[in-house]
Amino acid sequence: LRVVVLISGSGTNLQALIDAQISGAPFEIVAVVSNAPGAFGLERAKRRAIPIAVVDHRAYPDRASFESELARVIDDHDPGLVVLAGFMRILTPPFVACYLGRMLNIHPSLLPKYRGLHTHERALAAGDSEHGASVHFVTAELDGGPVIIQAVVPVLPDDTPQTLAARVLAQEHVIYPLAVRWFAEGRLWLGSDRRVYLDGQV
Ligand code: GRF
Repeated sequence: LRVVVLISGSGTNLQALIDAQISGAPFEIVAVVSNAPGAFGLERAKRRAIPIAVVDHRAYPDRASFESELARVIDDHDPGLVVLAGFMRILTPPFVACYLGRMLNIHPSLLPKYRGLHTHERALAAGDSEHGASVHFVTAELDGGPVIIQAVVPVLPDDTPQTLAARVLAQEHVIYPLAVRWFAEGRLWLGSDRRVYLDGQV
């Protein structure tokens, strides 16, 4: 399976996917695309000689022209799956519609709780005893697509947003490669009923 990964920052989820590919997972990251020129994830790609591209949203007059170039770069690599990994731009419904069923995202909360930003602060403020991360198919609704897999972590009494974020991030690195592997094996798909289907043994 040809995979294009979109990033905006450090790319630790990208690294987890690179490590899974090295360990023999049935997918190939054919390109890493960042909206941020200085994203450290681009270095991670360079180390593995994975083609990179920067589509800097600040260089475009509007969202439509940015997304038009982003789609051109993505489609140039002919991916079977597009993976948003710490990608921090909101994508418009028309753009998402082009990739429905073959675009994944990971969000640092137990969706449908805490869509949007600052999820760890919000979980702490709410006094939650559990928190976590969710991998989902991307739909027009921000952080609202059908959930594929979640990881649950405890919230500890002395947690700060940073300690909680680190605990969640470690689990992201477990569940994202798993979801991408399932998709690559043809065992995971988004039904026309918009429900998630997973075939075979977990
Ligand atoms: C992290 O906050 C993670 O929870 C979310 O995106 C941010 C950066 O991830 N998915 P990464 O290290 O760039 O993969």
